[in-house]
Amino acid sequence: MAGRPIRLGIAGLGRAFTLMLPTFAADPRIALVAATDLRPEARQRFAADFDAATYDSVEAMCDDPAVEAVYVATPHQMHAAHVVSATARGKHVLVEKPIAIRIDECRTMIDAARSAGVQLVVGHSHSFDAPVLHARKLIDSGVLGAVRMIHAFNYTDYMVRPRRPEELDTAQGGGVIFSQGAHQIDIVRLLGGGRVRSVRAMTANWDARRPTEGAYSALLTFADEVVASCTYSGYAHFDSDEFLGFIGEMGLPKDPARYGAMRRALRAARNSDEEAALKAARNYGGSGYAPSPAAPADRRHQHFGSVIVSCEHADLRPVPDGVMIYDDEAARLDKVAVPPIPRAEVIDEFYAAVVEGRPPLHDGEWSCATLEVCLAIRDSSQAQAEIMLRHQVGLRGALR
Ligand SMILES: NC(=O)c1ccc[n+]([C@@H]2O[C@H](COP(=O)([O-])OP(=O)(O)OC[C@H]3O[C@@H](n4cnc5c(N)ncnc54)[C@H](O)[C@@H]3O)[C@@H](O)[C@H]2O)c1
Repeated sequence: MAGRPIRLGIAGLGRAFTLMLPTFAADPRIALVAATDLRPEARQRFAADFDAATYDSVEAMCDDPAVEAVYVATPHQMHAAHVVSATARGKHVLVEKPIAIRIDECRTMIDAARSAGVQLVVGHSHSFDAPVLHARKLIDSGVLGAVRMIHAFNYTDYMVRPRRPEELDTAQGGGVIFSQGAHQIDIVRLLGGGRVRSVRAMTANWDARRPTEGAYSALLTFADEVVASCTYSGYAHFDSDEFLGFIGEMGLPKDPARYGAMRRALRAARNSDEEAALKAARNYGGSGYAPSPAAPADRRHQHFGSVIVSCEHADLRPVPDGVMIYDDEAARLDKVAVPPIPRAEVIDEFYAAVVEGRPPLHDGEWSCATLEVCLAIRDSSQAQAEIMLRHQVGLRGALR
C-alpha cells in the first residue's frame, strides 16, 4: 500500500478540515507539513499538533518547497483563486466540494492544473463512499441489467446549523444547492453514468431570516434514458437517517433523543457575528473544538441519505453496511468492509493520482459537470423551465 507520504499543506482549518483531520492524521500516505488560516488560534494549534509550519496566506504557504500538494478547504467562492495559487507554484490540489460556484471558474482551475502538469482532485464528496462505489461496480457487472431510475433524498437540519453570512447568500455559494447538492448530485451522476441531459427543479427559500435556498426537488434526465429524482431538505424536522437505522452521515450511531438540538442551540446566537463565532468555535483550534474520539468499533460507512437505484433486474440501495440488493429471488445485503480510516477512499484516489499518476474519477471536468447540474437546479426553478446541459462527462479515471 503506502510508499512515500504526500507532503500536504492545508488551506483553511475550518469545518471541512475538522472532518478530514481523522483521515489525514491516521493515513500513512499523508504527512501534514504546513497550514494557513485566517484564525490565529487554528494556526497555533496546527503548529503545536503537527510540529509544522504555518503561514498567514495561501500564497506564502504554496511558496514553501516542503509542500507538495495542497488541500483547499476555504469557502467555495475562494476555491478558484486558491487552486490557481497552488497550481501556479507546481502543487497538486485536493479541493473541497463544490469545486467552485461558476463554470468559468472551473475552466480556469482545470486549465491551470493542466498547464502546470499537476493533479486536480475534488473531494471529499459522498460519492467516494465505498457502498456507492460498490453499487457502481455491481451495475458495471452487467448482471442486474441497465440502470433505469434513481431516487435520492435526504432530510437534514443543514439550514439551522451555525453559518457564516456567505453561507446564507446564494451569490456567494450559500444554501443547500452548492453545499449539499454537490454530494447528492455527485452520487446520482456516478450511479447514472455521469451525463445528465436536462434538469427541471423547484427550490425553496422558506426562511426570511436565512434568505437562500434551503431545499430543492429536481428531476434529472440522463443521456442514456435514465431518470433521477433528487430531493434535499435542509429545513427538515424529520431526519431521514431514521430510514438508515439512525446511522448518521459520518457513519456513527445517532441518538434520536437529541431531536431538535441544533435548532435549539442556534437560538443562542443573537446576530450574524455571534452565529459565525459559534461556527468557528466548534472548528479546529476554536474554544469549543473537541478532537474526534478514537473511531468506535461500531463505526459504519459514511453516507448521504437514501439512494435507490432501479436496474432492469434488481433494485440497489447503498446503506451504511454495504449495498442492499433486491432481485427476483431475495433481498440481501452485499456487505462492504468499512475502511479502517474514515474517508480512506479519498486518499486512495488522491494518492493514486499524485504518486502513481493514475487519472482520478473526481477530476475537474467531472466536478464541473456536477456543479453545472447544481446551477441548473437554481436556474430551472427561477425560469420555471427545463434546462439543457452542456458540460457533462461520463465515468472516467479510477472507475474506467
Ligand atoms: N466534504 C465535507 O464533508 C465538507 C464539510 C464541510 C465543508 N466542506 C467544504 O469546505 C469548504 C469550507 O467550508 P467550511 O464549512 O469548512 O467553512 P469554515 O468557515 O468552517 O472554514 C473555512 C476556514 O477557512 C478559513 N479561511 C477563510 N479565508 C481564508 C483565506 N483567504 N486564507 C486562509 N484561510 C481562510 C477560515 O478562517 C476558516 O477557518 C466549503 O467549500 C465547503 O463546501 C466540505
